[in-house]
Amino acid sequence: GEHILSVSQFDRDTIQHVFNIAHQMQPYASRQKRTKVLEGAILGNLFFEPSTRTRVSFGCAFNLLGGEVRETTGMESSALSKGESLFDTARVISSYSDVIAMRHPQAGSVAEFALGSRVPVLNGGDGANEHPTQALLDLFTIERELASSGQTIDGMHIAMVGDLKFGRTVHSLSKLLKLYKNLRFTLISPQELAMPSDIVDAIQSAGHQVTVTDALEGNLNADIVYQTRIQEERFPSKEEANLYRGKFRLNQEIYTRYCKSNTVIMHPLPRDSRMEANELDNDLNLNPNLAIFRQADNGILVRMALFALTLGVEHLLTKYECAVPW
Ligand code: CP
Repeated sequence: GEHILSVSQFDRDTIQHVFNIAHQMQPYASRQKRTKVLEGAILGNLFFEPSTRTRVSFGCAFNLLGGEVRETTGMESSALSKGESLFDTARVISSYSDVIAMRHPQAGSVAEFALGSRVPVLNGGDGANEHPTQALLDLFTIERELASSGQTIDGMHIAMVGDLKFGRTVHSLSKLLKLYKNLRFTLISPQELAMPSDIVDAIQSAGHQVTVTDALEGNLNADIVYQTRIQEERFPSKEEANLYRGKFRLNQEIYTRYCKSNTVIMHPLPRDSRMEANELDNDLNLNPNLAIFRQADNGILVRMALFALTLGVEHLLTKYECAVPW
């Protein structure tokens, strides 16, 4: 059981192995079959920052493997608000549980926590730094979506749009994508919210083509358009975030005008559906290339695979199968 703290721990073989196991999770995720392979195991699900998908899908993924989940949500309901260190919290929770998933607003906090943990820790997002399990489910989704039109990740063109400075999902995803071959990246953001230069340098050093621009028009004819939310919670003030909200909106009209006929639209979610932001309009909901809910669904498969691999039970899924009584 290794921690999963950063996507830099993964190479292409390891990623493919995770994806192979994720595919094997499909019948359990869709309730065609059940497995009790993690019966008796406990997940400590610690979310010190708001979350819907990551928290619930980590929990459900563990339940679907037969395990139990104990949660803490919000800083104020945790003893961290009384001055307890991440190290002490980790020592305590890790003796109550077999694996821990954690999200925290500070970059580096989950790695610091892991130093005190006796069990594997999975990073569910640490500030603007990384969101490795999201990047894996995004990559899994990209592979699946492209495969349906006979394409591969190697050679594809991805446009990333929005808050590329504070968006941890695009940081982690870019680091994974640089492991593939001959990609084209179009990075579309206000100049103030550009992708960190170390990540751009790493992509270019790996031989990929990078275009940086602050114009949406004319730059969306990619295989994948990955839209993001302005990460208001990382800005010094709401007023400053508001300078950028609503700048790069995608809707069906923009899609028809600038995207390819089969451009896949992705977003890690949540999309900010308030009128002043609305980066991904509801009028795209009927567009078959809108993959945002398939991404969220794939999160279950990938997180089930990561738990099975972390706890070393990926070979035992069928051995512990049981009947579906409902
Ligand atoms: N994509 C994602 O991390 O969503 P949540 O913030 O709802 O977990």
